[in-house]
Amino acid sequence: MPDYLLESKCLPWPADWTTIFGREAPLYLEIGFGNGQFLRDLAARHPAGNIVGLEISLPAQRRAARRLQRAGLTNVRLLNADALFGVWVFFAPGSPAGVFINFPDPWPKPAHHHRRLINPRFLDLLADRLPAGAPLEIATDHAGYAAQIEACLLATPHFHSRLPAPFVTEDPQRIRTKYEQIALAAGRTCHYFKWQRNSRPAGTPFPIPPEYPMPHIVMYSPLPLAEVAAQFVPLAWSSAAASGRFVDVYASHRAEVLLVDTYVSEEPMTQRIALTIGQRPDNELILGLHELGFPRPTAGVHHALSALAGWLQTLHPAMVIRHSNLQVNHAA
Ligand SMILES: C[S@@+](CC[C@H](N)C(=O)[O-])C[C@H]1O[C@@H](n2cnc3c(N)ncnc32)[C@H](O)[C@@H]1O
Repeated sequence: MPDYLLESKCLPWPADWTTIFGREAPLYLEIGFGNGQFLRDLAARHPAGNIVGLEISLPAQRRAARRLQRAGLTNVRLLNADALFGVWVFFAPGSPAGVFINFPDPWPKPAHHHRRLINPRFLDLLADRLPAGAPLEIATDHAGYAAQIEACLLATPHFHSRLPAPFVTEDPQRIRTKYEQIALAAGRTCHYFKWQRNSRPAGTPFPIPPEYPMPHIVMYSPLPLAEVAAQFVPLAWSSAAASGRFVDVYASHRAEVLLVDTYVSEEPMTQRIALTIGQRPDNELILGLHELGFPRPTAGVHHALSALAGWLQTLHPAMVIRHSNLQVNHAA
């Protein structure tokens, strides 16, 4: 049996689906698969397809893996990731041959509507990733969310309904999900959107963030590390491509190294990382990225290190950068 659970922290961006499945085949994606019932039946009905499930809940992912194992399926894998982030970084344009979204969380309170998955931006992302002809199927039992989904789908020029109407309320052929069974048993109406990517070129690009080399900066510093730590204050920084915060600083008991607890926000994600400030001979500091938490050395991380160097330079006029491999311009 394959290892169904993919380690999303270690997968390259985009993922190499052919290597993961050991074969080239149309790739179908279910987002928010819950207990994995639909995913299991989708994989069983399409043995010639490679099936990927994307789900934010780890317990759900583990339960679904057990379900797939019991069914003895070999053409399905599970990825633990947020939907927007996961589609953005792991799927190259043209790689998913179809997307299924069953009963996405409806977030019924108006103050929470902004959390709903189906919105114009997410549809733009799907338009960028799906090839012409690829199905996009969405189901919901929430009337308000159905109205929003309908409005978003009707507004996008990149998809059209495969049915005469935007949705139907009966679809006897479909694989039923757990939430669907609960909704139907409670007498709620389900709305089934069976749409398809058309051939109009996608408008908005959603580039997969490149990974840069592990960043480092060497600085001359007349200040010892303890003095640097003593001067630390929480600090927000921003650049054209990213923004973030230095939250706190921690000193190693074993080596002359400080860890700077740092948030980095850039499209499509926020990473919490540890930047390092290490003491070297000859009054040099070396700034870098700690591997704690398997960070991705993105452009935003390079910007964060640049901002850290900028902050250090405010501590003493003699602080200068002697060497840097940053792929972005240093903060002024
Ligand atoms: C209402 S449940 C529906 C589950 C399943 N599709 C079904 O119909 O039985 C919504 C599912 O989406 C998952 N989910 C919510 N937000 C998500 C996100 N941003 N990315 C991926 N999965 C998400 C939840 O963990 C949950 O399993």
